[in-house]
Amino acid sequence: MKKLEEYVRSIPDFPEPGIIFRDVTSILQDADGLHMAVDSLIDMVKDLDYDLVIGPESRGFIFGVPVAYAQHKGFVPVRKKGKLPCETIAMEYDLEYGQATIEMHKDAIRPGQKVIIVDDLIATGGTTEAIVKLIEQLGGQVVKICFVMELKGLNGREHLKGYDVDSAIIYEGK
Ligand code: PRP
Ligand code: MG
Repeated sequence: MKKLEEYVRSIPDFPEPGIIFRDVTSILQDADGLHMAVDSLIDMVKDLDYDLVIGPESRGFIFGVPVAYAQHKGFVPVRKKGKLPCETIAMEYDLEYGQATIEMHKDAIRPGQKVIIVDDLIATGGTTEAIVKLIEQLGGQVVKICFVMELKGLNGREHLKGYDVDSAIIYEGK
């Protein structure tokens, strides 16, 4: 049986020279790869007590919803600015070049609710750090942060000290 990492296609020099792009579409398009990825995320959280799965647009939706469905939890989307129709809270975070803003509905999490965060990838950790801030502003408690892939060389976990972080595949480099 193939291992999960064997379903990841690695594209050298994308989006720029020297970067190896870890492509999640090659996991998704294979029935076994998709099962293995979602099952490995479920394994990380199945024994935890929590209320909601939080996932960021767009690749966090792909992996967060099946985890929520399988575990019979609700799913809360974190969206790029301007997409959510009701009252939101927003957080700016740094990208490699410039900044971005993500938003969450103000009533998405009730104070005291326990949540997990699911995304496809942790690189610099900037996205996840911003999500944690939004959750905590609403009074939520982050009990676990799960990724399919982690680029360890970018030290994303430095932004998530004190949180329980787990990745199905860890790449040593960037
Ligand atoms: C990618 C990836 C993670 C984030 C990781 O999303 O899906 O969400 O970057 O990077 P970081 O750890 O350096 O913050 P992206 O913002 O490219 O959008 P997408 O999910 O819509 O493709
Ligand atoms: Mg993303």
